[in-house]
Order: sequence, then C-alpha cells, then structure tokens
Amino acid sequence: PASTTEPRSGHPAVGGVPLAEIADRFGTPVYVLDEGEVRERCRTYRHAFPDAEVLYAAKAFLCRAMVHWMQEEGLGLDVCSAGELELAVTTGFPPERIVLHGNAKSPRDLQSALRLGVGRIVIDSPSEIARLAAAVGPGGHQRVMVRVVPGISAGGHAKIRTGTDDQKFGLSISDGYAQHAIARILDQPQLELTGLHCHLGSQITTVKPYLAAVRRMVGLMARLHEQHGLLLPELDLGGGHGIAYRPGDEALDLTTLSRKVRTELAEACASAGLPVPRLIIEPGRAVVGPAGVALYHVLAVKRSGDRTFVAVDGGMSDNPRPALYGVRYAPRLVGRHSAAPLAPAAVVGRHCEAGDVLAESELPADVRPGDLLAIPVAGAYHLSMASTYNLVGRPPVAAVHEGRARLLVRRESLDDIRSRDIGL
Ligand code: LLP
Repeated sequence: PASTTEPRSGHPAVGGVPLAEIADRFGTPVYVLDEGEVRERCRTYRHAFPDAEVLYAAKAFLCRAMVHWMQEEGLGLDVCSAGELELAVTTGFPPERIVLHGNAKSPRDLQSALRLGVGRIVIDSPSEIARLAAAVGPGGHQRVMVRVVPGISAGGHAKIRTGTDDQKFGLSISDGYAQHAIARILDQPQLELTGLHCHLGSQITTVKPYLAAVRRMVGLMARLHEQHGLLLPELDLGGGHGIAYRPGDEALDLTTLSRKVRTELAEACASAGLPVPRLIIEPGRAVVGPAGVALYHVLAVKRSGDRTFVAVDGGMSDNPRPALYGVRYAPRLVGRHSAAPLAPAAVVGRHCEAGDVLAESELPADVRPGDLLAIPVAGAYHLSMASTYNLVGRPPVAAVHEGRARLLVRRESLDDIRSRDIGL
C-alpha cells in the first residue's frame, strides 16, 4: 500500500495549473503532461551521461510535441515502427539520430527507415540480415547494430524481461546465435556494423544487472575482436530504468548507474585490451512516466463485502498496465479537501471485466460520485498502449507549462471510432 504520509486530498497543481482546472477545461479522463518535468528529466540524463548518446524510447509515449522537446533537449530517438518513425521525421526530427528496433519489422517499417535515412537499424534475427541487405541494395549503405541477448534476468515483471534466452527478442550469446549472425552481417558489404545492443527489460531498479550486461557484452566484443579483428565503436545498453509509481517505491538512481556502468566498462575494456566504445542508452519510462498524471471523475461508489469500490470514467482502456502486469497505482482525491479518515478503496474502471482495477489503496472515506481522482506517474505506457475497448474513445493529452495548459492530442470521439467502421 502507498505510504500515508502523502496528502490524499487537496488542490494540487502541475506545471503551475490546478488539476481541477484542467479537468474542467478538457474533460476526463485526461492525461496531463508536465512539459517542464519532461525537459528536466532529459537534462538529468544528459548531465548524468555526458559522453553517451541518449535515445528516448518513443514507445513509452509519442506525439509531435514530445518529438520537438526531445530534439530541443538533445536526445536521439529509439523507434520501433514506421508509425513512430514517420511521426518523428515529419515533425522535423533528424533521421540520422533515430534508431529503428523491432523483432518483426514489416516491409513498411524497413522501407520507411531506408527512405528516410535512419541512423541505425538494430538487427534482431538472422532472416533480417539478408532481407535488409537486399532492401538496401548493392552499392547502398546502412549502419546497423545487432541485438544480443546477454542471458541476464532483470525487470519488473516476467512480461517485460528481455535479457534471457527464453523470450522473443535478440540473438543469444550462450548458444552462439549472436556470433553467427554477426559473422553474416560482416559478409554484407552494404551493412556497416557499428555496435552491439542489448535491452535487459523494463522497470529495473538496481544497477547490478547493467554491470553484468557490460561484462557479457565486452566479453563478446573481445571474442569478435579475436575472431574477426573487429573493433566496434558503439555499445547500446538499452533502457529499462525503473521509476517509483507509489510513495516509498524504489527508483533506479541515474547518477549511480552512470558512474558504475562507466567504471565497469572502462575496466572490462582495459582487461580485454579494447578501446572503450561510445555508450548509448534508451530510456523511455524514466523520461516521461513521472511527468504524467491521469485524471478521472468518480462515477459510482459502492461497498461489497469489506471493500469500497470507487468506479471512475476510465480504466483498462486508457491504462492496461494493472491488468497486464498486476501493478497498482496510488490515486489521490483532488479538487477538494477532505477531513474524512482514509479508508481502503479499490479504484476500478468502467470496463466489462472484474480485472479492470487501477488501484487498491486508501482514499478519504467520504469519496463520492463527482469527485476528481488523480493517478500520478501516468506518462509512460498509458496512452501509447490505450485501446478503444467497449468503444470508449482514447483520452486527450494536455501539456502544462509555466502556468498554462494546452491540448497536445485531442480526445478520440465516437465519430472517430465509428468512421473506421465502413462495412455492412
Ligand atoms: N529499448 C528497447 C529496445 C525497448 O524494447 C524498450 C522497452 C526500451 C528501450 C525502453 O524501456 P524503458 O526505459 O521504457 O523501460 N509496456 C511495459 C513496458 C514495455 C517496455 C518495452 N520495451 C510497461 O508498461 O511496463
């Protein structure tokens, strides 16, 4: 349960704008994004990793404003579809600072990447090598990395652990698939291998797995040097930096991460006799997650057994994370002060499933229909994973900055949803 030291009701403001005012103006559910906090988090990364290339993992949340902020703050982008890529490039993001990922890149993904000239494409399977080489064509040139599975288990939930051999991403070191694929890439004159990539998983809260990854990756680099005389200039350690969702949760400390990773990398390279490669990191959640708040109105309150159910006007369609990963949030009553004692409350959504639960927490006992609830830390993997389940339109995104609110993404209307339905 969330700590009870945080105020559970009141009139909080984000980016200088009271949350209740945002709910009045844009309706609920709505995602609120604090532009200043997103920018500040980018600066924290640039400061903590001054020599590294920091790529924002667009899957966490992307819209044109976000692309623009990333560009202004000096980050690159990690994309994994033509959709993310084209949104970024048509917003003016330099394609050479974009890296394309994906374990199953569609023809459209690859065509877009080659046509727009992305900086690197991360190869994830042996079959992709020939496909990509053919798409680049003889005489063409594309820089690539290869996604390696280092055999390290890390991450907040089994569904978001990607560092071990029993999952779909990358090529494993332990059974030689990575080495084999690399040898084949080196045979393709139009593909230039610039480095190795790994992504251990997501919502990792300790530094240790990253240090283990550094050792495994440098170990592989040393073997590649021996076998092929290869000196790779880049090492991409992916993202996965964990954040606190509830008061008292642990978050990964970026300064410690940077210091320890750089020391480990320097030592591992020195003992292998290799030059230190340029580090690349790909944070998504930690850039945008804490900068977002989701606002909901309470539609119904009831008791069943010894529990109080507080039902809101959104749910698993705008936040599938509780249903997917079993995570729970820490909601707060906003827009009024309550002197009532805190009582256990399950904040549930409006969808037709018993698993549509956003939070099991505590709220003032007098919570009632019409109240406004805020769910903090809603910036990452909320809208980007939202659906129109039960034909409910996806919420808008409002940015707040220096006392002003503006709409970045409008609400999806029922007309938007109906207009796609063209058969009979
Ligand atoms: N790089 C690669 C190759 C990735 O696959 C991911 C995330 C990232 C970077 C960024 O990871 P982050 O820093 O955001 O943890 N929907 C899940 C998270 C899925 C992460 C997928 N890949 C969730 O809501 O927890």
